[in-house]
Amino acid sequence: MKKDSFYVTTPIYYVNDKPHIGHAYTTMLADMLARSHRLLGHDTWFLTGTDEHGQKVQEAADKRGVPPQEHVDTMVKRFEELWERLEITHDDFIRTTETRHTKIVQEILQDLYDRGEIYQAEYDGLYDVRSETFITEKDLPEGFSAENLPDHVKVIQETNYFFKMSKYQEWLISYIEENPEFIQPDFRRNETLGFLRKDLSDLCISRPKSRLSWGIELPFDDEYVTYVWFDALVNYISAVGYRSDDEMFARRWPAQVQLIGKDILTTHTVYWPTMLKAMGVAMPQTIFAHGWWLSGKDKMSKSTGNVVNPLEYAERFGVDALRYFLVAEMSLGQDASFTEEVFIKRYNSDLANDLGNLTSRVLKMVHTHCDSKVPVASALPAEGTPEADLWNHVQTAVSEMSRQVENMRPDLGVAAVMTAIREANKYIGVRAPWKQAKDENLQPLYETLYVSMEALRVCAALLYPVMPAKMMALRTQIGAGVDEPNVDDLKVFGKLVEGASLEEGEGLFPRHQKPKAAPQPKPSKKAANVVTVEEIAIEDFFKAQLKTAKVLEAVAVEGADKLLTLQLDVGGEQRQIIAGIAKHYTPEQVIGKMIIIVTNLKPAVIRGVESRGMLLAASKGKKLTLVTVDAEDFPSGAKVG
Ligand code: MSP
Repeated sequence: MKKDSFYVTTPIYYVNDKPHIGHAYTTMLADMLARSHRLLGHDTWFLTGTDEHGQKVQEAADKRGVPPQEHVDTMVKRFEELWERLEITHDDFIRTTETRHTKIVQEILQDLYDRGEIYQAEYDGLYDVRSETFITEKDLPEGFSAENLPDHVKVIQETNYFFKMSKYQEWLISYIEENPEFIQPDFRRNETLGFLRKDLSDLCISRPKSRLSWGIELPFDDEYVTYVWFDALVNYISAVGYRSDDEMFARRWPAQVQLIGKDILTTHTVYWPTMLKAMGVAMPQTIFAHGWWLSGKDKMSKSTGNVVNPLEYAERFGVDALRYFLVAEMSLGQDASFTEEVFIKRYNSDLANDLGNLTSRVLKMVHTHCDSKVPVASALPAEGTPEADLWNHVQTAVSEMSRQVENMRPDLGVAAVMTAIREANKYIGVRAPWKQAKDENLQPLYETLYVSMEALRVCAALLYPVMPAKMMALRTQIGAGVDEPNVDDLKVFGKLVEGASLEEGEGLFPRHQKPKAAPQPKPSKKAANVVTVEEIAIEDFFKAQLKTAKVLEAVAVEGADKLLTLQLDVGGEQRQIIAGIAKHYTPEQVIGKMIIIVTNLKPAVIRGVESRGMLLAASKGKKLTLVTVDAEDFPSGAKVG
């Protein structure tokens, strides 16, 4: 890694979509990381942008009756405006229709073509119009087949250009294995390795203009445009001077973190590295895939109408409260739930209660008893005093925040700051400044208030990358100045200037009312000691999707004597599940078995490993046996039920 340099990217968003909470999240996260690194004095660069070519854009433009370029020029504004509203501090915004990008894509294509990395061939197979990808029969949704295709899948026969991706398969596997930080979190690295265990095909990188004209023309054949992903991925380097500004490129690339959502893992961890390898360009340091924001337990989707609009929350609760929620609530890598109830609960407990109360209690007393000036206090008292204990908690937050940002767990960093804030509230409870204010000697009161303000100064600086406007307001209210926080000051006690005048400010986080909960059904009165099993309707049973699955691999989970990680084949799809069967089966005993699993269980992370499904087993007392299929050669992926 280039020392002290930090280049972070977000995916470039399809310009056609209305920006939703998923887009806001990735961009906000990148912003928080960029702001943190800037405070550390690192040479930081933060890139975001829009993905503007492809079939969907062309169709949408046709529908509006405007040329595609005019269409994307209108749509892109929604993203630009949202980023401004959400206090996003990107250094560059790239659009794939800009010449600085299209020119580089063409140069790359020409170079790869000249070096024999791209060839022409006949394609005869299925094409998914919705995802704009070539697919095989096993990728079809359930209930469909080659004879019965869904509307969005077409049979296509055409000549196209292909990138020799398959030749990099072995290299990529070794690279991923040798560089554990390359794909994060670990379970996503395993997912990519699982994908690479199957034969990798070459990548079709062209679309005939007769079918789709809205794209970057192939430099060696003007009858074709470039496949939208081959075009889009290049943005990460075209924006930082690849083939156009060597100095800038050397300064920025390789990126330290490329943030993506889990749904675009393969394009970023298979297509992108093989493209870079063929170009002879270094790999990014880390590609980090975060989970999804769910609406309650469900996927957000336009058709269900449960997509959270980030602007609505920013309007109602403030931009910084939204930013805080997004960072604090999602443990990076996992899915998280976004509901109004969870939002208000966290807002009230962390911001209105813990941080808001601390601030208003302290400042009220300073204005009343210290003539609106930073009180004059002595040095930090010795170890063992409540003051020194509080300062130690604050220092733990300082080290935790930097450690967790480095580990890509800013949620834990924020949690450490909240712990320090709660300790500060406890400290005030112990010293009871409202009692100290009644003493003749007011010095102890001044000490209490000064120490509390110092705790606030450091915590506000730590939360500044998450809530820039509110934390700047807080810093001003306590007399910490109007400049960005200086990280060197965070470990030093006594930075607030005694005697400095303070202006009264507004409350930072007014409380919000919880939405009314839906009435809960009353528990029925059942006779004591009678164990009843609730009856369910057949539709309830069929909510669980059971399928046969073949165990391909089994390994013990490190540090857990009951768990095995199983790699399964479920009708051609590879899945990983964690099963609590290690006390009953050795890995060798389960490999090759055809078991039954629940496939639509919400993924869970067990001991840091992702589990996507659950197997069926019968147990009684200490005995356990797997439910297996005994017919020989029975296929995996078959429905059970
Ligand atoms: N244009 C491509 C990316 C090209 S990058 C070279 C694309 N665009 S997108 O607009 O569909 O999605 C962008 C990102 O938003 C993805 O990383 C996706 O994971 C993320 N999200 C979309 N819905 C989401 C949630 N509900 N929750 C969290 N992020 C999700 O894909």
